[in-house]
Amino acid sequence: MYEQLNDFFQRPSPFSKYTVKELWTRPHLSRQMLNHHLDQSSDLASWKLSSIERVVDWIDSQFELTNNNLCDLGCGPGLYATRFAKKGAKVTGVDFPSHSIEYARSQSNGAKSANNYLIADYLTDELPKPFDIVTLIFCDYCALSPLQRRTLLSRIFEMLAPDGHLVMDVLAANALKQKTEKTIIEEKLMNGFWAETDYIGIQHSFVYPESRLSLDRYLIIEPNETWEILNWLQHFSLPGIESKLKQAGFEITKVAAALTGEALTTDSDVIGIIARKK
Ligand SMILES: C[S@@+](CC[C@H](N)C(=O)[O-])C[C@H]1O[C@@H](n2cnc3c(N)ncnc32)[C@H](O)[C@@H]1O
Repeated sequence: MYEQLNDFFQRPSPFSKYTVKELWTRPHLSRQMLNHHLDQSSDLASWKLSSIERVVDWIDSQFELTNNNLCDLGCGPGLYATRFAKKGAKVTGVDFPSHSIEYARSQSNGAKSANNYLIADYLTDELPKPFDIVTLIFCDYCALSPLQRRTLLSRIFEMLAPDGHLVMDVLAANALKQKTEKTIIEEKLMNGFWAETDYIGIQHSFVYPESRLSLDRYLIIEPNETWEILNWLQHFSLPGIESKLKQAGFEITKVAAALTGEALTTDSDVIGIIARKK
């Protein structure tokens, strides 16, 4: 126990462990995540529906979605995909938790065109193509290691038709100011979010200011199992994300504060980006 706890409190080197798949696909967690996606009092897994509607309207105003072939990577329960389809786009949603995809499939009525949902890992599984638009929403790019980010951008580049567009958001450097180093130890940490059984949860948060990186590390101690989840979040300056996109063959055509279209300022916590495949 001493060794496990001692290791848990050490500052890990950036992105030395990847637990995103576990976070979204452990059966209890994936049910909890679906509840959070749909919960209108929480922004934990998705923005609230009022913001989602504004994002979809803004993207539609940029592209006129009708008849565009659009792929929503990390589509979750299809909150965006369903609405893109109602605007007339032909939508493919990709995600790995089956609970979310089943929910998304159940929500297709009212769409102008049928949605296609795939249970797949967008970093490793074969994905269809070509698309006019690929979306990656809710700052999912920020949870990836530098190598995974390069892999994902090059896969998106391959998925896009000539002149196709990537629409994504990332955490801005300003949002790192809200992060502090802290430790929380609680029985049933986060009201039973982590496990069905009794458990003790420890959250230890790290900030790496020089790398614009934060980590929320969770140790979940159940009667019969102890396991951990690491939530890495990379924050970006505009020139920083611009240069990564350029290296991957993209040219930014629009920048906003989030994907709702307001002007980006130094106080913005999120950068919304539209980038064209060159
Ligand atoms: C924060 S949620 C956002 C979901 C959705 N974009 C929204 O805003 O409602 C991130 C989603 O990305 C999915 N995801 C993360 N990594 C993935 C991967 N490698 N392949 C497929 N889906 C992934 C998760 O399962 C989760 O549903």
